[in-house]
Amino acid sequence: MARGRGGEISEEDKKRKVSGKSFKEALKIFRFILPYKSWFIIGLVFLLLSSVTSMAFPLLAGKLIDAATGKGPYTIGQLAITLLAILFVQGGFSFMRITLFANVSERAMRDIRLHAYSRMISLPMRFFEQRRVGELISRLTSDVSQLQDVLSFTLAEFLRQLITLVVGIAFVLYLSTQLTLFMLAVFPVLVVAALLFGRFIRKLSKKAQDELAAANVVVEETLQNVQIVKAFTNESFEVNRYGTALEKVIGNALKAAKYRGAFVSFIIFALFGGIVAVLWKGSVLIQQNALTPGELTSFIMVTAFIGGAIGGMGDLYAQLQKTIGASERVREIMEEESEVSLNSETKPIRIYGEVAFDNVTFSYPTRPDVEVLKGVSFQVEAGQKIALVGYSGAGKSTIVQLLMRYYDLSGGNVRVDGKDVRTYDLRQLRHHIGIVPQEVILFGGTIRENIAYGKPDATDAQIREAARKANALEFILSFPEGFDTIVGERGVKLSGGQRQRIAIARAILKDPAILILDEATSSLDAESEKQVQDALDELMKGRTTIIIAHRLATIRKVDFIYVISEGRILESGTHEQLADLENGLYQHLLKLQFEIE
Ligand SMILES: Nc1ncnc2c1ncn2[C@@H]1O[C@H](COP(=O)(O)OP(=O)(O)OP(=O)(O)O)[C@@H](O)[C@H]1O
Ligand SMILES: [Mg+2]
Repeated sequence: MARGRGGEISEEDKKRKVSGKSFKEALKIFRFILPYKSWFIIGLVFLLLSSVTSMAFPLLAGKLIDAATGKGPYTIGQLAITLLAILFVQGGFSFMRITLFANVSERAMRDIRLHAYSRMISLPMRFFEQRRVGELISRLTSDVSQLQDVLSFTLAEFLRQLITLVVGIAFVLYLSTQLTLFMLAVFPVLVVAALLFGRFIRKLSKKAQDELAAANVVVEETLQNVQIVKAFTNESFEVNRYGTALEKVIGNALKAAKYRGAFVSFIIFALFGGIVAVLWKGSVLIQQNALTPGELTSFIMVTAFIGGAIGGMGDLYAQLQKTIGASERVREIMEEESEVSLNSETKPIRIYGEVAFDNVTFSYPTRPDVEVLKGVSFQVEAGQKIALVGYSGAGKSTIVQLLMRYYDLSGGNVRVDGKDVRTYDLRQLRHHIGIVPQEVILFGGTIRENIAYGKPDATDAQIREAARKANALEFILSFPEGFDTIVGERGVKLSGGQRQRIAIARAILKDPAILILDEATSSLDAESEKQVQDALDELMKGRTTIIIAHRLATIRKVDFIYVISEGRILESGTHEQLADLENGLYQHLLKLQFEIE
């Protein structure tokens, strides 16, 4: 019956009403088939042909039996050869249908995935903050697979069953009206009962599966954090927890098994009972010479076909609900407004690097009632270096994110070279800003690929030079694979300081007009910090630079320092000015660090 590739139907989808409107909306996604429509139509023709020829089996099988008992105009040999020929043709039809549909559905799904992904990756930051990565991935994988199931399987199945049903009933009516009426009174009721029973059992086994999944969470969590379990010597506590979870699984599984047993008995008794009833009625008709044995054979076979078709149609509604849900989730992404257009080319522009924040207020879209910046104003001349300092959570990283235009402001404006950042093409703007972020996360590939991310067309010599300037060359060459070292998922195979130097190399390679260093040297030891600081000093020459630093020693030389506190600029000036400011926050922070060091 149902082939649950897309998994069980979710609660959310189950509640979905299949209305004409939602159905029509869902169909929109199938516009991706249009480029392949001729293949699709030919596939449909083959589907039709194979469904109709499959009805020849019961017909010919009955004739064969009649021929054996000396009735009917054909010989056994003729019929057997015809059956073989049909078998052959039928095989050909099915082959064509499946490969054609696969061609259409695989290509259309590739188009949908690519389209949805290119939309997704160019959506603004706020979109990603409102959704979990796993959920987005499942839209590209399981939701699209569900659509594919419909195209390559459900639709074909539905049409086949519909044809079987119509042709089958016409056929049995032709064989014997009396027996057909008898059959129709008994059979559909039993099939529907079996269907409902089956659904109930599936629900029960789903519950058992969910509980098994819950039990698995215990294992997963504890194995991942095995150090913590051991540190607290909570081994036996966890064993008990797992045991309790398993008890629940067994309780439900056994209950499901009981119903499953009852279901099988029901099928044997009722469904086969139904067939026996038709057989009995048919035999009586044969006795009265109203039917030949061959016709009864054909009749029974077609009846089984019809039963199967009714059963298959029952699952159709659930499939439809799932498809509408999947289509909605995929289309939702396609209809979001992206922040950059991947298709249009933009003219390169020149940016000198003058930056101005003018009374900027801002709240993150996910927390609209918390004002993170409350009127921030400052100016940086092209080529100047400024520093932002302040307590953790003051809003420093937020300021640079706004410069990158990751988010839109609530009030005020941010200007680059005197022009509002909103007037720039986003790609051009970001092209001229280089950032060494607070938390460096690398891609899973090689060191070379990670550095070249700053400039995809960089030569090996340029990459090497950037690594040297970032003081990363030494450790890179100390790995046996050098630049081809795989850094592991998110860069886990490198130390924090090594990752940071790769990020610096990346920024050096990008050669931007505006450079942002968000705690760029925070995970380096004193010696490497000095070396990297030298590299950064070199890198900062002639560029507008915004440095965020907790270690105040690293920012003595900047032109201007802004002390941020709770979303406001509290103090500003050069290091000397701020250090002399009595009872100032900067002076306080300086003293604290002096005491620590
Ligand atoms: N994506 C986000 N969504 C909602 N709130 C956020 C987000 N990022 C940061 N915040 C909040 O905004 C405030 C300022 O954060 P920000 O990262 O700018 O601080 P920071 O000054 O860089 O701190 P640190 O020195 O620890 O890096 C914090 O209260 C933080 O909780
Ligand atoms: Mg920060």
